[in-house]
Amino acid sequence: MTLNKTLDGFSVAWSSPSNIAIVKYWGKLPGQIPASPSVSMTLDQCRTNTEMAIQKGPFSVDFSFEGNQEVKFSERIKRYLTELSSRMPWINDYSFVIKSENSFPHSAGIASSASAFSALALCLTSIQNQITPLSELAFYKEASLLARLGSGSACRSIYPGFAAWGQDETNETFSDHYATPIKHDSRLSKLVDTIIVISQKEKRVSSSKGHSLMTNHPYAEARFLQARHSFRDSIQAIANGNIDLFNDITISEGLTLHSLMLSSTPPFMLFEPETVTIINLLLALKSRNETPFTFTLDAGPNIHLIYDESDSSYMNENVIFKIKNLFPGILFINDKMGGGPTFLGERLT
Ligand code: DP6
Repeated sequence: MTLNKTLDGFSVAWSSPSNIAIVKYWGKLPGQIPASPSVSMTLDQCRTNTEMAIQKGPFSVDFSFEGNQEVKFSERIKRYLTELSSRMPWINDYSFVIKSENSFPHSAGIASSASAFSALALCLTSIQNQITPLSELAFYKEASLLARLGSGSACRSIYPGFAAWGQDETNETFSDHYATPIKHDSRLSKLVDTIIVISQKEKRVSSSKGHSLMTNHPYAEARFLQARHSFRDSIQAIANGNIDLFNDITISEGLTLHSLMLSSTPPFMLFEPETVTIINLLLALKSRNETPFTFTLDAGPNIHLIYDESDSSYMNENVIFKIKNLFPGILFINDKMGGGPTFLGERLT
């Protein structure tokens, strides 16, 4: 059987989760290289399920999201695949039918590019694996690298628990090209992430634009230095179960991200009024030093409340209840630390 005959009619499907950054990736160099290292927690419920089917023929992409043709994202995937064809020349000889769906509300401001591109990258790696079989370790490393080329944060979604991405001169384990899973203490193994969905509107400024504004940012150097410190400290805190340090870094990183947006040229703000009210409430609760939680934000107005599962009742009664009282219509998504992507199957038709 020739190689092409083997792949003609091949289809594969993966389910891949989103992740929430504990140490933020904000600022990049050409080639999707992060300007500073980042750490994230992989989620469980917020996922993208993607099926990729390929047929021998001229290169084309037919992408549908939840049953609808998505022209804008389809163009992004086309560019992504074209770029990857230098690494995987077989791409040029196939037409792609890609079907995708999210388990969370569409554009709920959750890092959907992370789940989307990690699922796509896993499908591509499965196809590549038909050509050149890879060891399990090499498979996930390759998937993480391919995911990064689609969306930086996606490379971290390949792994369960916590993952780190970006080189660190004090530790050779980490790379700019792919993420690496990191060990966590059992005290961090049952973390819950309650996502407070303040707005489902499309972001005013895209993450790509935000990254590019870090190039000439007045605080770039200080930020990248801070990120390197947060990176090392968070890895230690996660490995040793130092919850207080983990909580402090998580809050500082979320708020720093938004302060970098405010001090960009031109400045921009992704907070909504509700974001500010809730942050003030959370900081007031934290200052009383009695509530065991942390919180963070990605590039949007939504807030991730992170705490141990055993504190769920306490959090519901003392924190979430107060937020619901202030903003009765607000949507909450209950997520938690997850076990990483799942293989949904493959077949040859
Ligand atoms: C704030 O990974 O979405 O979520 O590489 O341009 O696709 P691109 O950016 P993206 O940026 C994520 C930024 C962030 C922080 C993080 O996840 O580390």
